[in-house]
Amino acid sequence: MNNQSCIEIGNEWGIVSARQAGRELSKNIGFGSVDQARITTAISELARNIYLYTEIGQIELTSVVKDNDGREGIKVVARDKGPGIENLRDVMVDGFTTSGGLGAGLPGVKRLMDEFDIESMPGEGTTITTVKWLR
Ligand SMILES: Nc1ncnc2c1ncn2[C@@H]1O[C@H](COP(=O)(O)OP(=O)(O)OP(=O)(O)O)[C@@H](O)[C@H]1O
Ligand SMILES: [Mg+2]
Repeated sequence: MNNQSCIEIGNEWGIVSARQAGRELSKNIGFGSVDQARITTAISELARNIYLYTEIGQIELTSVVKDNDGREGIKVVARDKGPGIENLRDVMVDGFTTSGGLGAGLPGVKRLMDEFDIESMPGEGTTITTVKWLR
C-alpha cells in the first residue's frame, strides 16, 4: 500500500488529483464513506486556497499512527510559498474572506478534521497541517 503521496497544486487539475489521492488513501486506511467525504472536502478546500491565493504549492498525504494508542489516521499537509497570511485569527472566523468567497474554507477544514494547525509568515508562505483519526 502506498502510504504517502505529494500532489502539486498549480492548476485546477491538481485539486482533482489531490481529492482522488485523498479518497484512495483514506479508504485504504479504513475510513468509512462519510469520513472519506469529510477528508476529501478538507483537501479540496486547502488545495483550492493554494490555487486561488498562491502560484504553486503541494498537498502531502500520509498515513500515520497515533503514539499513545496506535490508532491510524491520515495527515494532510498543505504547503506553499505564497504571500502568507497576515492575521491568523481573522482567517479562522467564519465569513472572513479577501476574495469575495464564503470565507468558510478554513473554519470548515478545522471542523472536518481532528487536528488543525497553521504556520504562516507574510511573504514566506503557509503550511497547514491537519490530521483525522480513525474512530
Ligand atoms: N494558502 C494561503 N495563502 C495565503 N492566503 C490564504 C491562504 N489560504 C487562505 N488564505 C486567506 O484566508 C482567507 C480565508 O480563507 P478561507 O478558505 O477560509 O475562505 P475563502 O477562500 O475566502 O472562501 P471559501 O473558501 O469559503 O470559498 C482567504 O480569503 C485568503 O485571504
Ligand atoms: Mg477558501
